[in-house]
Amino acid sequence: MVVRLARQNPPMQSVRLLDPESGLDGVIAIHSTALGPGAGGCRFWHYADLGSALDDAYRLAEGMSYKNAMADLPFGGAKAVLRQPDGPFDRAALFRAFGRAVEELGGLYVTAEDVGTTVADMRAVSTRTRHVAGLDPAGDMAGGDPSPWTALGVFEAMRTAARFTLGAELSDLTVAVQGTGNVGANLCRRLADAGARLIIADIDPRRRNALGAVLDARIVDVTEIMSVEADIFAPCALGGALTSQSVAGMKARLVCGAANNQLATADVAEQLVDCGIVYAPDYVVNAGGIISVSAEYLGEDRASVAARVDQIGPRIGEILELARREVRSPALVADEMAERIITQADCRAA
Ligand code: NAI
Repeated sequence: MVVRLARQNPPMQSVRLLDPESGLDGVIAIHSTALGPGAGGCRFWHYADLGSALDDAYRLAEGMSYKNAMADLPFGGAKAVLRQPDGPFDRAALFRAFGRAVEELGGLYVTAEDVGTTVADMRAVSTRTRHVAGLDPAGDMAGGDPSPWTALGVFEAMRTAARFTLGAELSDLTVAVQGTGNVGANLCRRLADAGARLIIADIDPRRRNALGAVLDARIVDVTEIMSVEADIFAPCALGGALTSQSVAGMKARLVCGAANNQLATADVAEQLVDCGIVYAPDYVVNAGGIISVSAEYLGEDRASVAARVDQIGPRIGEILELARREVRSPALVADEMAERIITQADCRAA
C-alpha cells in the first residue's frame, strides 16, 4: 500500500498511500527528521489530481520543519495530505487505513488534525498506530483542541510586536481580525479583555455577528477588512491573504495573525518592508497549536505547553529586532534562523 517516492528540490521523502478498499488516496511528505520525527497534521481535502495533493504536501511539510524548529520542538517537519473520495465512503475505515500507513513508517512520522480532519478521525487512526496526537486530553496532560493555545501564542506575539513596532499597548490600538473561527474568536476575546478596539470580518455571518455583539466589535465586509483604518491586521482565515494588491491598500502598520502561509508569493515580504508594514512571520506566531499537539505526543502536561507558548512573544521580539537592524524582512530573518537550527541538527546527526 505504501510506495516511497523521492524529490530533489526541495529534497523530500514521500510515501504514496493507496488503499482502494477504504478509498485512502494520498501522500505523506517528510521534509526533515534532523530534530526528531517528522510532525505535522493530516489534511483531508478535495484535490483535482495527485500532483496538486503532492505539491501541497511538500509545501506544508517544509513549513512544518521551519515551524517546529522555531518553536524549539524535538520534531522535524512532515505532513499528510489525503484526497477526499468523490463518492460515498466509510470515513472510519479510511482513517484506520491511514493509521496502518503511519504505523508502517515506524515513528518517522507523527500525525494529528489539520484542515478537514477531526478528533474522531484521529481516534480511528489511533486504533492502528500510537504515532498520533490530537486525541482527548486526560487530567492535566496536554491534548485536545489546540486552537486556544494557538490564539494565546498569537496574542503574546502581537503584544510584543505592537510594543516594538508601534510603541504602544494593545489597549491603545485597533486590531482588524480576518476570520472569527476557532482561533480568531478566541484571539478577539483576549484582545477585548486587553482593551483593544476590534474590527472583524468573516464569510460566515453567524460567527461574526454573534462575536461582534458580545465584544462590541465593528463588523465589516470581508472585502474591506484588509483596508480598514486599523493599527494591526490579524489574518486568521485562510492562507494567501497578503497579495501585492491587498498590501498596497493596507492601512495597518503591523501584520500578526494565525493563518498559515499568509504571504501569497515570496516577493510580498519585500513589498511589506517597502510599505513600512512590519510582518510577524506566521509560522513563528501560530506555533501554539503544534506545541500542544507535540506535548501530547511526548506525554507532557499543560504547564509544559504554557511554558513553550510563553516563548513565542520573546522569539518574535528577537526576529523583529534583527530585521530592523539589518533592514530586512522578518520573514527572511525567521527562515534563516530556522534553516540554521535544522542544518546544525543535521551536522550533529552526521
Ligand atoms: P476555522 O475554520 O475555525 O476558522 C476560519 C474562519 O475563517 C471561519 O470562520 C471562516 O468562515 C473564515 N473565513 C474563511 N474565508 C474567509 C475570508 N475570505 N474572509 C473572512 N473570513 C473567512 O479555522 P481556525 O482553526 O480558526 O484556523 C484559522 C487559521 O489559522 C487557518 O489558516 C489555520 O490553518 C491556521 N492555524 C490554526 C491552528 C489551530 O490551532 N486551529 C494552528 C496553526 C494555524
